[in-house]
Amino acid sequence: MSDNPRELRQGIERLRAERGAVILAHNYQLPEVQELADHTGDSLGLARLAAETDARVIVLCGVRFMAETAALICPDRRVLLPAAGAGCPLAEMLSAEQVREVRRRFPDVYVITYVNSTAEVKAEADICCTSSNAVAVLEQAPADRPIFFGPDRHLGEYAARELGRPAAIYPEEAPVMLWPGFCPTHHRLTPADVEEARRLHPGAPVMVHPECDISVIDTADVAASTGGMLDYPGSVEAEEFIVGTEVGMLTPLRKRYPKRRFHALAPEKTVCYNMKMVTADGVREALDKLGPMIEVEEAIAERARKAIEGMLAVG
Ligand code: 13P
Repeated sequence: MSDNPRELRQGIERLRAERGAVILAHNYQLPEVQELADHTGDSLGLARLAAETDARVIVLCGVRFMAETAALICPDRRVLLPAAGAGCPLAEMLSAEQVREVRRRFPDVYVITYVNSTAEVKAEADICCTSSNAVAVLEQAPADRPIFFGPDRHLGEYAARELGRPAAIYPEEAPVMLWPGFCPTHHRLTPADVEEARRLHPGAPVMVHPECDISVIDTADVAASTGGMLDYPGSVEAEEFIVGTEVGMLTPLRKRYPKRRFHALAPEKTVCYNMKMVTADGVREALDKLGPMIEVEEAIAERARKAIEGMLAVG
């Protein structure tokens, strides 16, 4: 354990240089972790940063699927996840065998998996997407094949609707079939929460993540990935904003726009405890021990990598 924050910070800096490491942190991470990161970003941004870095060691401050994605993209680097137990309940809602079952039922199906999925599930996919490129990924999918989208039903429903494509929850047949998974944090938000936040902060635009239910998206001013939420205030005049996603998102928003005010939508509902497992102490320990290291078995990695590379090519 650290003696004081300054010593901790110096220790991390020394180890970062010694190890040739880069520290990447998701927008939901604790403020103390975002502060020490070389780069912060959304899921797509972190994947791109991993693809571009020369660093020998990547410390991924986020949850397991994010570290797995970095490990898939950079098989020759050491990828560390400072909190080995930081998972994603959404990613656990769809198994590789369930995707294979969909393929048995619909042999010509085109499978899109959200990056919030296991490497085994990605290995069964034609392509991956994140919340910032789900619409573009769906748009480039072959128009003459049925599409399966999983595990997040809400993101899939949102993307399908943006493109005017009919969607239904699997096993119902539809041009876009959605697996009934959801992010427990975003799924808890309701239109009444938005209504209450608008009452408390009149005139403040509401941003929500597309992992929210479509009824919540319909009450918001904009649906965007965490990266999109970070850009949005730059395009509007408002002084105050309501932020409908995991509460950690307030950190990068307040940093980028110090003169504006940001209010979490239903903050009592929007803490993802997995995202809070990484601490500054944990980062130092990971750099010191060069672990926990995240690796994906090569037979799975080879196929999963193709789905990630396809996604990165879409943009
Ligand atoms: P973003 O790609 O918007 O950062 O999504 C992160 C996430 O996992 C939401 O639950």
